[in-house]
Amino acid sequence: MANILCIGAGFVGGPTMAVIAKHCPEHRVVAVDINAAKIAAWQSDHLPIYEPGLKEIVLSARGKNLFFSTEIERHIAEADIIFVSVNTPTKTFGQGTGKAADLQYWEKTARQIVESSSSSKIVVEKSTLPVRTAEAMERILNSNEKGLFFDVVSNPEFLAEGTAVQDMQNPSRVLIGGRQTPSGQKAVQAIVDIYAHWVPRERIITTNLWSSELSKLAANAFLAQRVSSINAIANLCERTGADVTEVAHAVGTDTRIGPRFLRASVGFGGSCFKKDILNLVYLCEFYGLNEVAAYWEQVVRMNEYQQASFVSKMVTAMFNTVAGKRVAIFGAAFKAHTSDTRESPALAVCRKLLEERAHVVITDPYALESARADLHDVAEQVIFEPDPYAAARDAHAIAVATEWPQFAELDYAAIYETMVHPAFIFDGRNILDHKALYDIGFNVYAVGKPPLTHFESSNPAS
Ligand code: NAD
Ligand code: UGA
Repeated sequence: MANILCIGAGFVGGPTMAVIAKHCPEHRVVAVDINAAKIAAWQSDHLPIYEPGLKEIVLSARGKNLFFSTEIERHIAEADIIFVSVNTPTKTFGQGTGKAADLQYWEKTARQIVESSSSSKIVVEKSTLPVRTAEAMERILNSNEKGLFFDVVSNPEFLAEGTAVQDMQNPSRVLIGGRQTPSGQKAVQAIVDIYAHWVPRERIITTNLWSSELSKLAANAFLAQRVSSINAIANLCERTGADVTEVAHAVGTDTRIGPRFLRASVGFGGSCFKKDILNLVYLCEFYGLNEVAAYWEQVVRMNEYQQASFVSKMVTAMFNTVAGKRVAIFGAAFKAHTSDTRESPALAVCRKLLEERAHVVITDPYALESARADLHDVAEQVIFEPDPYAAARDAHAIAVATEWPQFAELDYAAIYETMVHPAFIFDGRNILDHKALYDIGFNVYAVGKPPLTHFESSNPAS
């Protein structure tokens, strides 16, 4: 039996510990956090985050071998293995501002581990970190005067929100990096043994520390680059009459490229892509690789362009003004099946529409609370409406910003009747049946497709 601790019970710490507890009944798993409200929520029936399947797993293990607590010192003292999954946001001050990772929470945790420990432990980097952070971690941990030795292992997390439980239960791979010393390799093996409870051994990749740390940033950069690449092509489709879904299919059937992660959209969001690519950019700059930095930075710039051009398309289509017009934004979450609104393109669209003085109503099945908090500075100008039918009533336009499947199943004929005409739909996720909407009477604008409008205008598809 091992005592496994996770410091940071957020989107990653909570679900990963729940899945480890489920598959390793002989181990005692504890997740701690400085946020007492979050811990109270993990202990209640209203978990702090929405993830499909998460509640069932938490309820099945909680109180048996899974615990949530705010008693950080005590649990550090008792732990054999400590996963650290605190947030590592982009720095908003000082050197590297706007790009480098803010490692203050991370460093605080390292110092706290030293302070509260009276035995040697394995410390696992779960957070996404710049390459070579483990070196700093080792220095802080091992410059103690208690004669303790800490092995630092890198085990970056690849789960995506909305599919966190599924991704943890059946991961494409688990990556574990460690020092090539006997002690380092023993520590790596201890982490391999945890995952081997449910992950086939051939999917557990072991590497050196730096490869593991860098692979996490690289994986996110490659994924985000695909979205920015297809969005770049979507813009060209809109000018030329090509249809981005057809192009994505034609390109993606080349098995070397593959069909996944080629959905054109209003842009990518989420807490990680932007922050991790900017972190990579900063690292490249640090090493004097300015052209390499510029290459990756363009992935983020393309995404900003995509969000801005979506709103600009709305304004242009709606006779060059949305001032005073009610606009319903369908979706607040950065993607479907999550309550997370961090860096959500929906909120970027909302803010830009407010700048254009539109009357914005936003609807989402799970993320309205989080949207209200993120939009606190403009919240009095926004209506938060859980019912999409009520949100669309009296609106001039609907903008689909999140790919919730339920938005595709609404009765758009009924919605059309309650809207101001001419009525517009801007499908920023290409999830609706555009031809059916056009037949109802809507003017339909999708991403990377020729618009379907009832106005007489030159249509590049024709
Ligand atoms: P989060 O903000 O949801 O959770 C981090 C938690 O750490 C917060 O609850 C915070 O209160 C807590 N915390 C901060 N300092 C602490 C301290 N000193 N002691 C105890 N708790 C502390 O963040 P997240 O989304 O879970 O991300 C965590 C890390 O994992 C980040 O580095 C992120 O890049 C990475 N990651 C995230 C995802 C994802 O999908 N969200 C996926 C893979 C990797
Ligand atoms: C992403 C990665 O997919 C995870 O592997 C990684 O662990 C995680 O970042 C992280 O490091 O935090 P996540 O941000 O949760 O996961 O969600 P994704 O499914 O990657 O979606 C990111 C954004 O891209 C969303 O806004 C999504 O709607 C958008 N997207 C995705 C597209 O616009 N088109 C696509 O084809 C795919």
